[in-house]
Amino acid sequence: MKGIILSGGTATRLFPLTATTSKQLLPVYDRQMIFYPLNTLIKAGIRDILIIVSSEHSGQFLNLLGSILKNYGVHLFFEVQKVPKGLAEAFILGENFIGQNNVAMILGDNIFEDDFSNDIKNFKSGGKIFAKKVKDPERSGVVRFDKNNKAVEIVEKPKKWISDYAIPGFYIYDKQISEIAKKVQPSERGEIEITSLHNYYLEKKKLEVGIVKGEWLDAGTFDSLLEAGNIVKNKKLYKKFDPLINQAILEFNEELKTIARKKLL
Ligand code: TTP
Repeated sequence: MKGIILSGGTATRLFPLTATTSKQLLPVYDRQMIFYPLNTLIKAGIRDILIIVSSEHSGQFLNLLGSILKNYGVHLFFEVQKVPKGLAEAFILGENFIGQNNVAMILGDNIFEDDFSNDIKNFKSGGKIFAKKVKDPERSGVVRFDKNNKAVEIVEKPKKWISDYAIPGFYIYDKQISEIAKKVQPSERGEIEITSLHNYYLEKKKLEVGIVKGEWLDAGTFDSLLEAGNIVKNKKLYKKFDPLINQAILEFNEELKTIARKKLL
């Protein structure tokens, strides 16, 4: 299983914070936001990870992540998304990287408490996405279940209520995904929608929908960014990080401190 972190976008809702850096490099409590999705993939056992970034901030991502995991058996790859054309474009940009493997994709501004190791281990083919009951489902893709808890309808940001179950930014797909993404036509808002990919597999009866346990935070607005930091602090979510990535972050921070001290002398 390969992993992708989609970490580009325009982040207009966080402007002017994002005038100087990327959303996913903003702090969530004591570390940069991108470490949370990176941890989710590493914790699930994934070791080859493609990070898709915008050209504007690519240098900053490389400075932070370029060699941080090189001694830990995790291989990070980078790809630039020149224009944010939609979430499904990740599978087109990542086509060579995915090759003949299954792939798990996580959004760079999504923070999960849940552990997806078993979903990754047990995944065979088709697609697996997740659902979470929320108060404001209209902000994301939404899935409706029938009375047997079977997913029957998926709609991107529905204008009319169909269900309380939002689809969080963590998706598992088989190796066909790049070919399918290439056939998706842009929506009214001009994006290649990930919802179209979910619907492709749903129609083929090859889509499984799990339920996300614990916190799911999308740190894309001022309020949700602040809330994410507070929840991470209060629930000590950083303590649930995989020891591998926690150690790598610690070492990297120590190295930066040493360099800074030397410059001061
Ligand atoms: P969004 O939050 O939907 O979009 P955005 O980050 O551009 O923010 P805003 O709506 O405030 O302008 O994106 C969800 C995640 O996906 C986020 O991590 C950015 C990423 N993304 C891309 O990398 N490329 C894209 O083409 C899009 C649409 C999003």
